Formats: sequence, structure tokens, C-alpha cells
Amino acid sequence: MSGINYSEKIPNNVNLSEDRTLQRALEQWQPNFINWWDDMGPEGSTDMDVYLRTAVSVDPQGWAQFGHVKMRDYRWGVFLNPGDQDRQIHFGDHKGEKVWQDVPGEHRANLRRIIVTQGDTEPASVEQQRHLGLTAPSMYDLRNLFQINVEEGRHLWAMVYLLHKYFGRDGREEADALLQRNSGNEDNPRILQAFNEKTPDWLSFFMFTYFTDRDGKFQLCALAESAFDPLARTTKFMLTEEAHHMFVGESGVSRTIQRTVDVMNQLKTDDVAKLRAAGVIDLPTIQRYINFHFSVTIDLFGADESSNAATFYSSGLKGRYEEGKRNDDHVLKGNTYKILAVENDKLIEKEVPMLNALNEVLRDDYIVDSKGGIERWNRVIEKAGIPFKLTAPHKAFHRNIGSLSGSKITPDGRVVTAEEWMAKVGEWLPTNEDRAYVGSLMGRVTEPGKFANWIAPPVMGINRQPVDFDYVRFN
Ligand SMILES: [Fe+2]
Ligand SMILES: [Fe+2]
Repeated sequence: MSGINYSEKIPNNVNLSEDRTLQRALEQWQPNFINWWDDMGPEGSTDMDVYLRTAVSVDPQGWAQFGHVKMRDYRWGVFLNPGDQDRQIHFGDHKGEKVWQDVPGEHRANLRRIIVTQGDTEPASVEQQRHLGLTAPSMYDLRNLFQINVEEGRHLWAMVYLLHKYFGRDGREEADALLQRNSGNEDNPRILQAFNEKTPDWLSFFMFTYFTDRDGKFQLCALAESAFDPLARTTKFMLTEEAHHMFVGESGVSRTIQRTVDVMNQLKTDDVAKLRAAGVIDLPTIQRYINFHFSVTIDLFGADESSNAATFYSSGLKGRYEEGKRNDDHVLKGNTYKILAVENDKLIEKEVPMLNALNEVLRDDYIVDSKGGIERWNRVIEKAGIPFKLTAPHKAFHRNIGSLSGSKITPDGRVVTAEEWMAKVGEWLPTNEDRAYVGSLMGRVTEPGKFANWIAPPVMGINRQPVDFDYVRFN
């Protein structure tokens, strides 16, 4: 079951050839996907051979095989983790019942919505990142970008398979629509706002893969608990791919900081103008990028109070992060949770039924996890002997979803007037000047082992290859 059949048009480990109707439907969707990749995928990459990993099995040991391939020929397919015959629903009103191999009629609309929303983010990020290859700071980084892009394409396949197999005609229509919406398109945008933002430069890309791919991790972890077993199994395999995306983000920001602090020490200065003249990204600008990406990403978890979140949990569609490791009753009726609200121009905590606050629960778990990387970035600064600390902004800062969205709140959690916000926002969020400066540093470096001036080389190459390996052959 875990071995992947690559002899078929669509590689899979779900015995696709036994379901001719489904196989035909997916084979009809396949050329549309390739057209989308040609139109919206990495710009100018058609002729390049890229050192990519491809899944050969879903076993934890050695699921990946590395080699130079043209991205267009990447074997996108359908891979599910092996099933467990005895798996039981372990949270919500159906706790203790057998998991579902099919979609129960009463949950069909909600499940479809969950799958479409997840599916929509996958091609969206490829679209957001489509021009970045033109300004890659090294061949190593270019390869990592492309690896992420092909895997997001595969994540789209994972969701499209579920739509086709389990949702009949409306599932097929939704699968088509996933290729029709486009990131940032005015008439037909992607579903979630963070996926309509631009990813204009590599600092944004690293921040995106650190913060926003991590939102992906938490959503996938919550769906990996689902009572709908095919969704649980497919998201489990997606998670193994997601880890690399977050690594690219964390190490990318870390290398950017490394280069900055090296130059700060060389020039013995923290003067922003001098550092910019030397071509590195000053730490206050990195802090503003963190503030932006952190706040935009935590909005993705949705409103702090949500009856949908309660329904999704109680009906078994979506669990909590690490549901199985928690010591409560996994039903949560009568439990409460604290969320934030603004009262008399002050942030206060408000106790609400936990079932309605499950978006907030997941957001808080995410925040703990994402602060870990910020601490590791701080160690790079500390090691260089520089007295500067990066921090995550307050959870209430710059929010556009939920009860805090109407208020202006500073990165340290003070409620301020619209006037004060306007006067200070340039200290808190990237300014046009910041973005123009970072943009001005972007230029493609194509020689193996060479890196743009603003970023340090990685400690190690990919798959134990040297750092100066030819990860991309431009042909
Ligand atoms: Fe993904
Ligand atoms: Fe990802």
C-alpha cells in the first residue's frame, strides 16, 4: 500500500487504476493543471533541470529520491499514508465510533468547504512566488524555492483527489475552480487574504515560508485528526513535505541575520544608513517584516469566536493540534477558554465556551511554535555579541479578522487612537522605503557556491551535497 506506482499517468498509492471513472476524471484534470503550471508557475523555469526530491514511498524511511528533473516533468500524484483498520474517532460527539471511509451526508457541505479552503492555499502560494526565481540569491536557494513550489502543486493534487473521489459533480467543479482563482486577482481572488498578498522579495519569501507555511502545518495537523479517514491520511503525508518548507524559511531568515550581524561587527555600527550602504538588511527592518508576516498569518486561523469551529470539532471534522496528547475529555462541552477583547480602550480577557474558541486555541498553539524560531534567530544575534532582540508582536497587533479587527493596537499590546497608529505605523510595519530597499538588493546569483551579498551561505547543502553543488542547471 505504501509503495507508489509510477508506471501510471498519475503516480499514486491508492490503486487508482481500479476506479476507471475516477482515473479518467483526474486524467482530464491533469492537462488543466499543467496549463496552470505553465501560466502561473515559476517564471522562466521551463528549461531548467532542478535537483528535486520526489516521493517514492510514504514510509518514514527513505520516501524521497533526489535527482535533476525539469519541473514540468515532476511526477505530481496522489499519496496517502497507510490506513489503520481499527482507527476510531477520538474527539467530538462521535468519539469512540469507527472513522469514516466515506463522507456522511450531513457533513458533506462542511467537509467540502474545509478541503476547498485548504486546497486553495496550495496553488495560491505558487502564484505568489512565481517571480522570485528571477532574483534568487543563490542556486541553492533557487532549488529550495522550486522544491517548495512543486510540493505545493502536489498538495493541490492531494485535495483535488479528495474532491473528485468523494464529492461527485460539485467536487469536480470545485477542483476546476481551484485552477481558476488566482492570487491577487481582483475579480477572482484566492479565498484567504494572506494568499492574495504579494511575495515580492526573498525576505518576504523566507518570512512567508517560516510563518505562513507553519499555519499550513497547524491546519494540516488539525485535519490529520479528522474522522474522515482519507482526509486524515492525506494530510499526514502532506505534513512530511511541509517540514522542509518551514526549514527553508527559518534558515533563510537566520542566514540573512547572520550576514547582517557579521557586517555590523565588521563596520562596528548599528547605523541603519551605513548598513544599508553596505548592502545588508538592518535588524529593525527584519523586525518590521516579522510583525507583518506574523500578524497577517495569525488572522488565517479565523475569528476568535466561531460557531463553525465548534461544529467542525463536535462533528469530528477537524481536531485540535495534537488532539491525542491532550488529557481532557475531547468533547469540551462546558469547558471555557480566554480570548481577548477591547473594553474602554483596554485589552481585556474574556472567558467564552471553549468549543466556540477553537480557532483561538489553534492560534495560540501556533504562536508558541512560531516563537521558537524567533528565539533561535536571537541566538545568532546574541552569539555575534549584539544587544538587539527580535520579538513576536502582541497577538492583538494589526489584526483584520475577529473582534480585535476594529481596534488599533501596538506591537506591545497598547490600544491607541487612529492618529497615533498613523504616526507610528512606519516603526511597526515595513514601509514603502523598507520594501524598496529590500527590493533593490534582489538580483539573481547563478554561479554554484556564490551567494548574494545580503545573505550568508547555509551550513550544509541539500541531501548531503556540497553547498557549491549545481542544484539548478539553467541549460
Ligand atoms: Fe502546502
Ligand atoms: Fe508548504
